[in-house]
Amino acid sequence: MLVLGVTGGIACYKAVELVRLLVKDGFVVQVIMTRGAMEFVTPLTFQTLSGMPVATETFNLTQESEIGHINLADSADLFVIAPATANVIGKIAAGIADDLLTTVLMATKAPVLIAPAMNIHMYENPILQENVRKLRRLGYHFIEPAEGYLACGYEGKGRLPEPEKILEETRRLLKKKDLVGEKLLITAGPNREPLDPVRYLSNRSSGKMGYALARAAIRRGAEVALISGPTELEPPAGARLTSVTTAAEMRHAVLEQFSGCTAVIMAAAVSDYRPVDFARKKIKRGKGPIELRLEPNPDILKEISARKNGKMLVGFAAETGELVANATKKLKDKNLDMIVANNVSEAGAGFDLDTNVATILDRGGTVRSLPLMSKDELAEQILDHLLVLKSQR
Ligand code: CTP
Repeated sequence: MLVLGVTGGIACYKAVELVRLLVKDGFVVQVIMTRGAMEFVTPLTFQTLSGMPVATETFNLTQESEIGHINLADSADLFVIAPATANVIGKIAAGIADDLLTTVLMATKAPVLIAPAMNIHMYENPILQENVRKLRRLGYHFIEPAEGYLACGYEGKGRLPEPEKILEETRRLLKKKDLVGEKLLITAGPNREPLDPVRYLSNRSSGKMGYALARAAIRRGAEVALISGPTELEPPAGARLTSVTTAAEMRHAVLEQFSGCTAVIMAAAVSDYRPVDFARKKIKRGKGPIELRLEPNPDILKEISARKNGKMLVGFAAETGELVANATKKLKDKNLDMIVANNVSEAGAGFDLDTNVATILDRGGTVRSLPLMSKDELAEQILDHLLVLKSQR
């Protein structure tokens, strides 16, 4: 059973369509409405579409005997909150359970998918963003609001995504655990190569792609060892995290953990070069130009591919041109099963964004160009492709 929590926002009308789609897709849907939601749509609408009485009150005797809030919490396979207001997100993050929806949520062990919809300034409010980060860290799933015209008159991020998109995410979360038994070694983020005690060379990688892969793989039942360069991101719940700084440290951690894994996904933007000399004292400002001498770091992927021993290897290729040609070359040179290539100069693709535009190439010669999507979605696609390749062995 799927429990759909509807909270008070103009996007409630889209929740009506969502119920219709869910029911059509074979879901048993129990709707819980907050008081705010009932200002926008009546319970009768949801009741008619879901074929189930709508729950609205914690202390209503008839509802409690017919539905029962603990019963709802126990029998849910998945909780979806759409639309989710800033208020309900704040309450969940603070552990407040002062109405039926937040009470049932407090009691459930089911996965929770939250679809925020609100005014752009509310969405950008650091309090809301901190609540979202906190809930993500605690394992709650979020679906990013869409951009566009908002009912309040503003343009921007805050729209409830289309019901079809929420349905897709719902299916995904309920998907069977198809990675049970897999032990994935995932690298993420940049490296920092120190120059002197206060300076380093690095790149613009945020680690978001690798962390999205780790979250998705854990959700699908894999054991995940995440080796991460410095990032601002919350460690994914359930991953074994090794934090490193330089490429040499990353190499060491990968080599140490390689033998225990079934597949490696190198999403890290490994530094190709490091300074030849580390200045023990801060390099002082002088009048003329100075020269930095750099030496290459070892290619970690290439090194492990030489002792592949049946493990699946996935690389990434960040390119600024000749995408397919360059990625194909890397796939072959590094003896990979699959490579995920993206043109980092394209809009919506590359470093420090929540979205990416990628092409997946595999050892069998498949070239799949994917549209712009969130890094979370791309992570699912990469794992799907990996499983297909594995089944072809
Ligand atoms: N990689 C690695 N070790 C390195 C450099 C890269 O393991 N020293 C991995 C990356 O994690 C990525 C893949 O190799 O999965 C491709 O990285 P990329 O930097 O795009 O390729 P390079 O071979 O370094 O080629 P170039 O920078 O010239 O494009």
